[in-house]
Amino acid sequence: MNELLTTIEIDVPFPKPPEVLSEEQKHLHVANIKQLLVQHNAVLIAHYYTDPEIQALAEETGGFVGDSLEMAKFGAKHPADTIIIAGVKFMGETAKILSPEKRILMPTLEATCSLDLGCPIEPFSAFCDQHPDREVVVYANTSAAVKARADWVVTSSIAVDVLEHLAEQGKKIIWGPDKHLGRYIQQKTGADMLLWQGACIVHDEFKYQGLQNAIKMYPKAAVLVHPESPEKVVALADFVGSTSQLIKAANELPHKQMIVATDKGIFYKMQQKAPDKELIIAPTAGEGATCRSCAHCPWMKMNALQVLSEVFDGDDKEIFVDPHLAEKAMIPLQKMVNFASDIQASVNSNI
Ligand code: 13P
Ligand code: SF4
Repeated sequence: MNELLTTIEIDVPFPKPPEVLSEEQKHLHVANIKQLLVQHNAVLIAHYYTDPEIQALAEETGGFVGDSLEMAKFGAKHPADTIIIAGVKFMGETAKILSPEKRILMPTLEATCSLDLGCPIEPFSAFCDQHPDREVVVYANTSAAVKARADWVVTSSIAVDVLEHLAEQGKKIIWGPDKHLGRYIQQKTGADMLLWQGACIVHDEFKYQGLQNAIKMYPKAAVLVHPESPEKVVALADFVGSTSQLIKAANELPHKQMIVATDKGIFYKMQQKAPDKELIIAPTAGEGATCRSCAHCPWMKMNALQVLSEVFDGDDKEIFVDPHLAEKAMIPLQKMVNFASDIQASVNSNI
């Protein structure tokens, strides 16, 4: 069974893109941030969707670039007192919940996510209350309050494995918030899922016709798609996976060209891991001024060098999570982290 819920309308204006910097300005900010990180015993952790200069800076300063699960795990293990999360707010909150003793800063707390916005706690919790026989599984792209209401939290890198595990136990599921990822998991696992109708404004813009045209233009290319994309786009994929899985696939698939349907920030790491491949971004709905996201998350883009330079100024960059919520959200988050370790341990024992 796969029942659909009503959509929560989100009507937030996209944030204004940060000012474009000259090369000289970039160098000055990079030098300043490097010095500040040392001075404050801080480490920079960046998501694959941030701009290339932010990812490079994280690497050059002994920090980390990764997907949302890897970011949280790296932050929890790293000895620095202060962690700077270049990403969106739910990533900072996840880091805080997993490392409550550390100071978690973000370049801006206004960097949000359409999935988080589209899943407010009150209606989501009311829906869960109507189905007490179901396990509540939520995507990591949610508020701490929604995580605290859940039995499981998953990221896209582990969602199929967790849902397979729950389906094997005969569990019935409430899934939120991404409708496309939920449908994809449902089809892969056969799990009985009720789907919240949220969507990612970046992946939702990849369209079947545009991708068909790109495939005609590059007939030898492999098509790599993130499962937050619409069903007809996923159907055209040679490989569907989370950000880390897409990067791995770009390296391992034999094709020389890759058409990629996810945020183009991923090209920095993908090109590094697959240097001999030509990467082509999948077309989005609309072109130039008429596309909304143009395959780059407007909230990830807020993590600009000039904003990062000011991360230690003032007291409005620190992530706080209500301790009561954090304690509750820790339970499903820790389940995910443990589940990921168990999978890794069983992979290692089979090598
Ligand atoms: P990951 O969990 O793969 O990092 O993806 C997060 C995200 O926001 C995808 O749009
Ligand atoms: Fe959210 Fe989509 Fe941006 Fe990821 S790319 S943070 S899912 S809006």
